[in-house]
Amino acid sequence: MADASDILTLCRRRGFIWPSFEIYGGVAGMFDYGPLGCVLRNNIVEKWRALYKGREGFVEIDSETVSPREVFKASGHVDEFSDFMTFCTKCESPFRADHLVKGFCENPDILSAKELESKFEEHGIKCPECGGDLGKVEEFNLMFKTYIGPGSNRIGYLRPETAQGIFVNYPNLYRYNREKLPLGVIQTGRGYRNEIAPRQGMIRMREFNMMEVELFVDPEDKSWSRFGEVRDCEFTLIPQDGRQITVTVGEAVSRNIIVNEVLAYFVYATKQLLMSIGVKEDKIRFRQHLKDEMAHYAADCWDAEVELSYGWTEVTGVADRGCWDLSRHAKFSGQEMTHFKRFDEPREIEEERIKAKHKALGPRFKNRAKDIAAAIEALDPSDIRDDGITVTVGGETMHLTDEFFEVVLVKEKVSGARVIPHVIEPSYGLDRLFYSVLEHAYDHDDEEDYTVLRLRPSMAPVKVGVFPLMEKDGLDSIAFRISEELRMSGIEAVYDGAGTIGKRYARMDEIGTPWCITVDYETIEEGKDKGTVTLRYRDTKEQVRLSIEDVENRIRDMLREDA
Ligand code: GLY
Repeated sequence: MADASDILTLCRRRGFIWPSFEIYGGVAGMFDYGPLGCVLRNNIVEKWRALYKGREGFVEIDSETVSPREVFKASGHVDEFSDFMTFCTKCESPFRADHLVKGFCENPDILSAKELESKFEEHGIKCPECGGDLGKVEEFNLMFKTYIGPGSNRIGYLRPETAQGIFVNYPNLYRYNREKLPLGVIQTGRGYRNEIAPRQGMIRMREFNMMEVELFVDPEDKSWSRFGEVRDCEFTLIPQDGRQITVTVGEAVSRNIIVNEVLAYFVYATKQLLMSIGVKEDKIRFRQHLKDEMAHYAADCWDAEVELSYGWTEVTGVADRGCWDLSRHAKFSGQEMTHFKRFDEPREIEEERIKAKHKALGPRFKNRAKDIAAAIEALDPSDIRDDGITVTVGGETMHLTDEFFEVVLVKEKVSGARVIPHVIEPSYGLDRLFYSVLEHAYDHDDEEDYTVLRLRPSMAPVKVGVFPLMEKDGLDSIAFRISEELRMSGIEAVYDGAGTIGKRYARMDEIGTPWCITVDYETIEEGKDKGTVTLRYRDTKEQVRLSIEDVENRIRDMLREDA
């Protein structure tokens, strides 16, 4: 198995990724995508779009990456989105405290600051850089803080997930979807997390790329219309009991290993996506989060883990976020974030409501009584405290005892009810997928003694290398024209006339190009445009002749076969 340094060296040398700001010494956890990396990354994104927009019919949006503080106060990130940090008291290197106790306890993520400090003490854990003593363990919020406009009170944050941009747009999206559920929305873009000490190449980046899917469903609807298509397909799961099993998707639901069809369907869809981009099937498993490992917003979560040289690594989380986000944004913004669920038949309901006592309010509050009554009746009986209720009217907050309100039982016929949709979220770490694709494609050709990236053709950044046998006698102009025409028809092709043919194949194999075309003297003898060229296959090294006229269609057919 290749190790990370092989992959990162290749990436750097051939222009997949480069450490950012390298001329200034670089910044840990930051990478720039080079020309080949951009295309490979886009190819992954297109597979994701084909799955969620194409197959599932979801819609895509693109929201802001900077948000005002209120958004992340509501989402819980301001208060909850932090890691435990410690500094070495001698060399001042920062560390994630839970990473330092890995290997000394089962699940370091769930320890408190005090428990982490005790583990340092108990196991004599010192600074891995200089052996110095570790300092106090403190919480560190991972969001990058900024200001929106001048003025120090206008705090904003770079988004730590693209998801919130979808949640705050729920009213628009719901209207766009003609007020129907399910409503599937996807978004790809940058996320930002100010990681304490990123030391794992592309696995932990401070500015990273995400592909997120937020599926809003009726909370009572646990079924999924396409479930039958995947019922008999298998995946490998590690539920909370820690025992790895391989079961069908149907069994996972019937044995209550995954709570419902919707979640199970999207766990399996994630396996399909990973395989379609070239992640190896036997290196994919899904691990359920333990109760105390779950993010603050999640009711359940299955991580897709891929086996890499780093070990089993989370690349995607498929979370059940319940009604957390919409109910929080409804509460903090005061806006309606619900779905009107129409009943098959109107239903008679009996409900407790708060009613204002107009006779008491009028004499006491005069011309403000009407507004106060409206504010009282907007409350729910659950808002009543032992000593009364609190309302805010015209900027004034007032406390009212039951002299001014009563709880009454109301009977009425209703055609439906407002419910807060639940959210299922498959969230893909695009950079981790990118890295996984490269690591699983990385191979060594022992015969030729060079690296070959066995990328799926649909993933390869260059589909065709086009060479003249010699860069003279008109072979070069024919080869150049073939490469140009392929590019103009949307197939990434590169002309290469430098060095021996063997060296040119090697250069193409190393970046994963599945096919090479060579123009030789036979081509000219047969008559320029009508002549034949050789087509060489990367993985079998087989070579066949075909006419120039057929090149584009042959490549297109082979790409279609890989779709
Ligand atoms: N939206 C999923 C995450 O933040 O990890």
